Amino acid sequence: MYNRIIKFLGLILVFVLMWVPAHSQDEMTAIDNDMFLKPQRPVSVFQHDEHNETAEIEDCAQCHHLYEDGQLVEGESSEDMRCADCHEEKGIGKTPSLTQAFHLNCKMCHQEKKSGPVMCGECHVK
Ligand code: HEC
Ligand code: HEC
Ligand code: HEC
Ligand code: HEC
Repeated sequence: MYNRIIKFLGLILVFVLMWVPAHSQDEMTAIDNDMFLKPQRPVSVFQHDEHNETAEIEDCAQCHHLYEDGQLVEGESSEDMRCADCHEEKGIGKTPSLTQAFHLNCKMCHQEKKSGPVMCGECHVK
């Protein structure tokens, strides 16, 4: 009887140990390019949480901004949306295209801070 319980608990432990690393790998490490029909470059590296921690960015809206009827909604963010929900393949008026939205957002800050990659191959790592 005891043997069975111990085996059973052992089995649970094995599952827990397998489950934990499998799930910590879910953390975002690159920007999915599934919204581009024919991607020309390898996906850009971007270790979301680690990046924002090292870069000391606290405001989610710095990247996940929210616009309604063309107006910026101050103090609110849009992390439940994808950039592609508002930025299309081609820019419309003041709304940059999806590629430009990423490039402006990422590169402008790196240039301003004089820190972080600005060369193609540093983000689009083969
Ligand atoms: C700071 C990082 C960064 C740099 C530097 C950068 N990109 Fe990107 N680029 C991105 C991100 C993020 C996307 C969104 C999708 C992805 O991950 O590929 C993107 C998307 C693209 C796309 C559209 C998707 C595709 O693969 O067709 C192209 C084309 C592109 N970049 C080309 C370039 C070229 C050319 C350069 C250099 C002149 C460059 N990028 C520099 C981050 C960067
Ligand atoms: C430096 C820019 C940047 C900052 C700051 C940022 N994010 Fe993101 N985040 C992104 C990008 C880019 C994506 C990918 C969007 C896409 O694919 O359309 C993303 C995706 C996400 C996703 C969905 C994808 C996933 O698997 O995780 C969530 C949730 C998210 N961010 C939450 C947050 C929260 C909460 C904050 C603030 C604590 C935050 N982000 C700050 C750039 C940023
Ligand atoms: C709810 C819709 C919406 C979402 C989601 C959204 N954007 Fe935007 N974005 C806009 C609109 C609208 C504009 C044009 C603003 C203007 O009129 O100047 C814009 C402008 C921009 C600009 C140029 C000017 C500026 O404000 O910096 C960049 C860069 C940008 N977006 C990047 C991103 C990125 C990167 C994401 C995803 C992490 C994203 N956007 C998600 C609607 C959105
Ligand atoms: C508001 C400022 C800001 C924005 C927006 C931003 N970054 Fe950065 N990024 C930084 C800073 C600062 C560093 C340097 C951090 C350090 O290592 O000290 C950095 C570093 C990086 C690095 C080097 C490795 C790392 O993770 O530290 C990569 C890759 C990178 N950024 C990709 C991106 C991509 C892709 C985007 C757009 C989706 C982006 N960044 C948007 C500020 C920003």
